[in-house]
Amino acid sequence: MNRSSMIQFPDSFRWGTATASYQIEGAADEDGRGKSIWDTFCATPGKVKNNDSGAVACDHYHRYPEDVELLRSMGVNSYRFSIAWPRILPQGRGQVNQAGLDFYDRLVDKILAAGIEPYATLYHWDLPQTLQDEVGGWNSRETVQAYVDYTNIISQRLGDRVKNWITHNEPWCTAFLSNEIGEHAPGYHDPKIAWQVSHHLLLSHGLVVPILRENSGPEAKVGITLNLTPVYAATDSEADKLAARFHDGRSNRWFLDPIFKGQYPADMLEWLNTQGYTPHIEDGDAEIIARPIDFLGINYYMRNLVHQKDGAPLGETERVEIPGAEYTEMGWEVYSEGIHDLLVRVNQDYSPKKIYITENGAAYADTVDSDGHVHDERRLNYIREHLRQIHRAIGEGVPMAGYFAWSLMDNFEWAFGYEKRFGLVYVDYPTQQRIIKDSGLWYHDVATANGFEA
Ligand code: FCB
Repeated sequence: MNRSSMIQFPDSFRWGTATASYQIEGAADEDGRGKSIWDTFCATPGKVKNNDSGAVACDHYHRYPEDVELLRSMGVNSYRFSIAWPRILPQGRGQVNQAGLDFYDRLVDKILAAGIEPYATLYHWDLPQTLQDEVGGWNSRETVQAYVDYTNIISQRLGDRVKNWITHNEPWCTAFLSNEIGEHAPGYHDPKIAWQVSHHLLLSHGLVVPILRENSGPEAKVGITLNLTPVYAATDSEADKLAARFHDGRSNRWFLDPIFKGQYPADMLEWLNTQGYTPHIEDGDAEIIARPIDFLGINYYMRNLVHQKDGAPLGETERVEIPGAEYTEMGWEVYSEGIHDLLVRVNQDYSPKKIYITENGAAYADTVDSDGHVHDERRLNYIREHLRQIHRAIGEGVPMAGYFAWSLMDNFEWAFGYEKRFGLVYVDYPTQQRIIKDSGLWYHDVATANGFEA
């Protein structure tokens, strides 16, 4: 191949796919796993599409050897997965479940034997139900302490082999989608709780940074994954610009500022004060949250184009129709330039040592063709165009370390159940057969060539 026509990534660039425990594992009642808030949420009628649940999911708990084999055959050198806290501590704290630890032990050994580097996420939303019931979940500092203990236990066990740790996945979702918007477990509609949760998540992140370093030794790399959304004002009006600034504060700066600058953004604190939502923050919390990390993980799916609603409170916006725009099955606009703009901005404003895209991908209504293949050209295009924009950002000096496609395979897409397919691999749920989609076959070539033809 003529290398000059290639979009070539840096030699050290990591190529991976990502998953999360509750979305793929299944085996919800096996080997001593405790209940998580997602088991409860799924069992509450009307919360999840078709009343689906993660009880079986992709049955990865049993099929992990086959799935790791799949990863190997896809040519990736990295894999991001999450650990189910209720497998390790069924009640969230106290009694440790040996069988749960053993599962991740076997999984990590398989991943390593396939020549793949594990990236473990400690919290991807499956909080032990007992902690929700007994102390109010992340609204309480007791859950922060329980998370610290859980992290210590799991990293003591895996730290000799797992060197890359992600403390949290998308704290914005854990805080707001779950506790204010109510679309995710535990399904609350209480902004005061949501803001408090956001602080506790950040605090818990900072608290475990030294623990992970201690348990994984000198090679340890610790980071956090944020879902960041570049915000654009829909028009030049003052109102739209103010609303854009506000949404940037809510979804991006509220998390980035304390981690990289040691303080919450002043404009947001001021706004919280006017609403009566100011979280309880103790002396010393800010220093803990700002402990240096090795990388920032970013999940990017779309941008936010903001149009302030006339006469409504700041930040109340109207949907903007974008002529000619393409949307995925989630109704999310496809906007690849957004990932470039976001990366350049984060690098400029926060200078993280390294950045990974820890999730990026698209849901489409895939079907298996009569030839037995899944021709998901739109997903392939989506990923290729986003990679092109990431490459552009690298050219502008952004320290990109790797890319994880969401997701390895179709899985339980939270409130949307099994209806939305994000995988590079198709899952036929009744038979649990896996079929690598065209996007997955293409991704193999990208990962092995460390780039693709321009
Ligand atoms: C992200 C989640 C991930 C998946 C994708 C589509 O917000 O982290 O689990 O649901 O969206």
